[in-house]
This record gives sequence, C-alpha cells and structure tokens, in this order.
Amino acid sequence: MKEVLEVKIPSVSMHRGQTLAIIGQGYVGLPLAMAAVDAGWIVIGVDSFEAKVTQINSGSSPVEDISDSKLQAALAEGSYKATTDFSTIYSASVITICVPTPLDNNREPDLALLLSAVTGIAPFVSNETLVVSESTSYPGTLRDTIIPIVNKLKPETSKEIFFASAPERVNPGDTAWNQRNTPRLVGGINGASQVKALAFYESICDAVVSVSSPEVAEAAKLLENTFRLVNIALINEFAQICSSGGINVNEVIEAASSKPYGFMPFRPGVGVGGHCIPVDPFYLTWWARQSGGKAEFIESADKVNQSMPIYVAKRALGLVDISISKPKVLILGVAYKPGVGDVRETPVSELRAYLIAEGAEVAWHDPFVPIWEGSKPVDLDWECDVAILATKQPGMDVGKLISKGTRLLDCTNSIIQAAGVVSL
Ligand SMILES: NC(=O)c1ccc[n+]([C@@H]2O[C@H](COP(=O)([O-])OP(=O)(O)OC[C@H]3O[C@@H](n4cnc5c(N)ncnc54)[C@H](O)[C@@H]3O)[C@@H](O)[C@H]2O)c1
Repeated sequence: MKEVLEVKIPSVSMHRGQTLAIIGQGYVGLPLAMAAVDAGWIVIGVDSFEAKVTQINSGSSPVEDISDSKLQAALAEGSYKATTDFSTIYSASVITICVPTPLDNNREPDLALLLSAVTGIAPFVSNETLVVSESTSYPGTLRDTIIPIVNKLKPETSKEIFFASAPERVNPGDTAWNQRNTPRLVGGINGASQVKALAFYESICDAVVSVSSPEVAEAAKLLENTFRLVNIALINEFAQICSSGGINVNEVIEAASSKPYGFMPFRPGVGVGGHCIPVDPFYLTWWARQSGGKAEFIESADKVNQSMPIYVAKRALGLVDISISKPKVLILGVAYKPGVGDVRETPVSELRAYLIAEGAEVAWHDPFVPIWEGSKPVDLDWECDVAILATKQPGMDVGKLISKGTRLLDCTNSIIQAAGVVSL
C-alpha cells in the first residue's frame, strides 16, 4: 500500500462534470449526494422506494441534515436528480452503494437489500467504473459477495471495474461532524482501485485514510460501533450500581472525565437505538462465529443494553404514588437520539411496551416524530403521574412540565437540579 500512498491524487477539478451514481437516498446517500454536488459532481440518486424519489424530486428532503433549500438548489441547477431507474447509471464513472444492512429475525446479517442493489447496478456498470460500498457489513462483503455479482452480470464491454470499501461514518443530527470533515477510510481491492477511490473521496472529504484492504475498512467500521455499544453498556451497568449505592452517576462521570488521558465519557440512557449501534456489532459476532470464534463480551454488553428499558420503566414507576393503580406515564422523546425523527430500533419502544404491560396508561411527545407505532403524540399539557425524559429533542419545553411540578425521570442528564426531577 505504501506504493499507492505515493501516487499523486488527481485534484477536485478533474471530477467537474463527471457523473456519480449513489444507490440508496437515505441518511447516508442523500448527504453524500449533496456533498458531491458541492464538489462539482453530477449526481444520480437511485432509490427503489418510489414515494421517496417523488418526495426528493419535489424538493422536500426526507433527511434532517439536508435542508429543502439545499436540495432544491441542486435540483434546479440540474446537478442532482433522484430516480428508481437503475439503467440511468450507465453514465457514472463512480457508483457508491448506500443501502441498509439490517439484521434478520435471528439477529444475523441480512444482506438482501445490498444484494438487490448490487444486482440492480451490475448490468449498467460501464468500463473503468469505480464501484464503492459504503454500507456497513462484515469483512469480506466487498470481495466475496459484491465483486462476484458485478463481474457475473456486468456488460461484456466492461472489461475493467474498480472496487473499494469506504464505510460511511456520518452521525445524523451532528452539527460539528459531517460528510466533509469526518476522515474517510478507503480500502481498494487492488492498487488501481485504491488510487481511483482515494481520488474520489479526496474530492468530497477533507481527509482520506488509506488502508491496505477492503477488509480492514469493513472491520474498522464494526470496531468503531462495537466500541460504542460496549462502552454504553458499561456505563448503563455502572449507572445501576451507582443508583443502588445512592451516588449520582453523572457526577461520577464528570469527576472521572477530569483525567486528561485514558478515559472517555459515555452517558447512561434508555438503551441503544438507530440503524448502527444495535445492529453493526452483530455483524461482527456473526463474522466471528464463521471462523469458530466467540464474541462473548459483545453479547454480554448487548444484554445490559437490552435490559435498560425495563430498568428505566421500573425506576419511573417507583416515582409514582403507590395509591395510583393505573399510572399515567408521559414519555418525552421517542426518536433514538436528539435532533432526528429516526425511530428505528429505538429502545423507547420496549420501554413503552413494558409500561403498558405493567398496567400504565402511556402517552408520548416528540416534536420530530409525527406518528409512531400507529399512535400520535400528545402535547405537554397531557396530565401525567410521571414523565420520562428519554430523548431531549431540541425545542422540547421540558421546563413547562417541571414548573407545574410533574415528577420526571431524566435519562439524558440534561436537567440540572430541579425540584421533582430524578436522574438515571
Ligand atoms: N444512518 C446512519 O447514521 C449511518 C451511519 C453510517 C453508516 N450507515 C450505514 O449506511 C447504510 C445505509 O444506511 P441509511 O441510514 O442511509 O439507510 P436509510 O434507510 O436511511 O436509506 C437507505 C435507502 O436505500 C433505499 N434502498 C433500499 N434497498 C435498495 C435497493 N436495493 N436499491 C436502491 N435503493 C434501496 C431505501 O429505500 C432507503 O431510501 C447502512 O449500511 C448503514 O448501516 C448508516
């Protein structure tokens, strides 16, 4: 790889007017599309979900991090268009795959959407096109799954195709770190692919990190998210220990954070949610099992996180007057994290289910979520016996509840010393 790093990377201007096709126009694909438009690419956004394509082409962004005005400008200048038609990608010199990689019912990798995306692009990949997978998956996905399909189904005229893995690290709702300033890992299948992939990401990212193989890039992404899963589990377990011992866990975290090295603060909460942290580590555990390995530490961390919604529910019900047989519980914030309306894998789902099973009447409020699990939100005037602050959404007026004396369990460490408020 040293040889590759010494190759001069073509400048951004070399890409002006070239076409990039991005498969999947969600939390990863659409921000990538807008970043590429900014860098001078003509972008085709392919998505199999027709309603989403229609919405995007009408100038309405389905992703919080991309404003309608940004999208509308790209559509108006003709540098971006969404489509369901895979055949339009024949003109692309780079194709990136940004489709979901969820778990199946056995909590094992489900590559069905990735496979359908690869099968969809393969007949339209032109000669010398760079194909990059940005979807998170286990090591070997590019080499053993994606490349054989493309090579089998590509047009006969497409003699040479370049391949790389460059897992996306975007953190939706993050105002500091974005597609441009987050360093990008790039692992090409061979030297020529690496040069092409580095050049592409240099055009849209401030920093690109060259690694020696696609497998290193794929594994690094799994390590990053597994690191978060196990540290969140550790602090969730630690929070429960502190609570039984009568110590405020958040004060302990602040104290430990004064150590200038070797410590990184994580916060307890209702659990883990979203498309990444509860999912990606199980690509790693599955991959470990394929070679006879074990990932007991990760499995055990998962158990702690999975137990958190029930722990939170019990703590909240413990704040209700014992004479109330059917307590009214208001959950504040159902998205899995602040600043987004994404409810995928939200641990609040389990929290609500447990509260209902325990006989509570449960309502929820989230300014970012218009409808959730078939129910609509209530406003903050809904009378309750206890409120649970699960996700502190921007613009959510929690002070209104506190000022009227509502008992509140704060799972976010965002309310500092207020009467009636108990932290996790
Ligand atoms: N959301 C994140 O925070 C994040 C961060 C880093 C990496 N990732 C990874 O990026 C990948 C994409 O995640 P996302 O959050 O953008 O998903 P998403 O659900 O927001 O968007 C994916 C889009 O792909 C479309 N799609 C599904 N199958 C398709 C197919 N076969 N052909 C064309 N379009 C198809 C869907 O309709 C959807 O619009 C996943 O592997 C995920 O793990 C996500």
